[in-house]
Parts: sequence; C-alpha cells; structure tokens
Amino acid sequence: MFQRLPDTATAADFTVEVDGTTCAARAGDTVAAVLLMAGDGPMRRSVVSGAPRAAYCMMGVCFECLVEVDGLPSQQGCLVQVRPGMRIKRQNGRPEIAP
Ligand code: FES
Repeated sequence: MFQRLPDTATAADFTVEVDGTTCAARAGDTVAAVLLMAGDGPMRRSVVSGAPRAAYCMMGVCFECLVEVDGLPSQQGCLVQVRPGMRIKRQNGRPEIAP
C-alpha cells in the first residue's frame, strides 16, 4: 500500500527490529513510516476495545501511532526517527507500567 517516492527509492541504510522481525529502514525515516512500509498489520490495538489502530496525522497530534521503542512504551512513532538496531514493538492494549 505504501511506497517510497521514486527519487528516494534506493537501498536501505540499515535494519531495525519490528516485533522480532528484521525490517529495512533509511536514515531520517520515522518509526511510524517504517511500520507503514512494513504493511503487516495495525500499528497498535486500542486499550479499550482492542480495535486495530494506525498512524493518522503523522505529525504528533492524534496519538494513534503509540508503540514501544527500545523497551519504552507509548512512544509516538511519527515523531521518533529510527536508528540502526532499534527494537520496535506494536502495542496490543494497555502497555506495561514500570514499577
Ligand atoms: S500519527 Fe498522529 S501522533 Fe503520530
């Protein structure tokens, strides 16, 4: 569904881990963009109903893109740039709260 623009469709710069699977990424990509490009399911599931959710605004307003990044839950994926080796997890329902 999502594709890079032709002038940016070159090889990946590095990889990140999404739910245990290796995913290609480029410097400057956001976590939300990588998840949309991966295209294998919702970005998270609603805390209340479990309904599938996905990034909507891509500018930090709607909070539909919350994911776990390197062990930190509820990070706005559209505002976080990927780094080599980053570990990203989709959130299913309520995230764990650190004691
Ligand atoms: S997509 Fe709306 S806050 Fe991230």
